[in-house]
Amino acid sequence: MPNQEKGRVNHIAFIMDGNGRWAKKRLMPREFGHLQGAEKFKEIVRYCRSELHIKYITVYAFSTENWKRPEKEVKALIKIFRDCIEDAERKEQKIRVIFLGNKEPFGEEMKAEMERLEEKTKENEYTLCVAMNYGGHAEIVDAVNSLISSGKTKITEDDISGAICSGVVPPPDMIVRTGGEFRLSNFLLWQSSYSELFFTDTLWPDLSTSEVDKLVDEFSKRQRRFGNV
Ligand code: IPE
Ligand code: IPE
Ligand code: MG
Repeated sequence: MPNQEKGRVNHIAFIMDGNGRWAKKRLMPREFGHLQGAEKFKEIVRYCRSELHIKYITVYAFSTENWKRPEKEVKALIKIFRDCIEDAERKEQKIRVIFLGNKEPFGEEMKAEMERLEEKTKENEYTLCVAMNYGGHAEIVDAVNSLISSGKTKITEDDISGAICSGVVPPPDMIVRTGGEFRLSNFLLWQSSYSELFFTDTLWPDLSTSEVDKLVDEFSKRQRRFGNV
């Protein structure tokens, strides 16, 4: 269990949902919502790091199920991700970037860009995990398969915690889902066992830093028992 100051957020995770509906409300294509969502992502990450001093931030950008979306939308999303990665490469990065999920389907070039960014930022104090082509089920299955390949015949909880890709960071203290749905949609299934969950109707592009403040404040008032009394 995370050993940390009580009430303080060490790791915050966001399910950035609601871009499509945000655009629809404005009679705009879904892709426009994703562009706006990417701007919001940059603002919220900056705020969590620089103002709230939260050491670990994880965002859910694209799930293993999101490939089912129309090709036009998937292409637009990948273009946005790539622009963000290239932009991050050009700038002096103050945050360590780690991608969660299998990079292969993005193609050789983009995969290389992702790896370069991970390498370039690896010494930074704060960490941003970007879950892209990420699925909680795939993560656990991959971890178990890699343990089997390493010769293990009996698997412990610690083995899985160590082998999952999101295991490079501590489990999230809080998971915030925007967009009004009450589900995890295959996000951090192993790591979320004792996370505090927050759901807001606010669509991701509308999330404000003051709402983040309120959520963090609400977190500090929750009693986390981890099964104890
Ligand atoms: C979240 O917004 C972004 C991704 C899943 C990539 P959505 O695109 O799911 O937006 P809604 O839920 O349709 O409004
Ligand atoms: C979850 O949102 C995935 C991301 C935010 C990247 P979805 O919009 O894909 O989730 P469902 O389909 O409503 O469960
Ligand atoms: Mg959605």
